[in-house]
Amino acid sequence: MTKQLEQLKQSAREANRHSYSPYSQFKVSAALRGDDGNIYSGVNVENASFGLSNCAERSAIFSALSAGASSFDTLVIYTPTATPVSPCGACRQVISEFAKQATVISICDSDQVRQHQISELLPADFDLNDYR
Ligand code: THU
Repeated sequence: MTKQLEQLKQSAREANRHSYSPYSQFKVSAALRGDDGNIYSGVNVENASFGLSNCAERSAIFSALSAGASSFDTLVIYTPTATPVSPCGACRQVISEFAKQATVISICDSDQVRQHQISELLPADFDLNDYR
């Protein structure tokens, strides 16, 4: 494994303790490296009004964008579970908006890993070109 990927995985694991998930008790965290070289992480942030909750993947992407970073090629998702967790549909759409070539790697507390291209997870996506 490359050192860069190892760093991303480590960042995703470390961020998990920041998850705000008192309702689901399901802690999710994610990390990506922006084109500025920095690593951005995010966690799921829930709300008493459930629909306002934000997933970890979108938190990480929005954090990177808010700091001025843009393109990224790898998104790591971590859950403290026995099996890896795939991004939800809403997050697939957001990942696709900002990183069509992204590799999505899900890790957990076992050796199991899921790795997919976002184009596999969300083929024929709806994007900016559809407005033209
Ligand atoms: N969650 C994520 O953060 N990412 C996903 O891809 C799946 C679901 C969060 C949302 C909610 O806070 C909790 O997991 C349970 O659905």
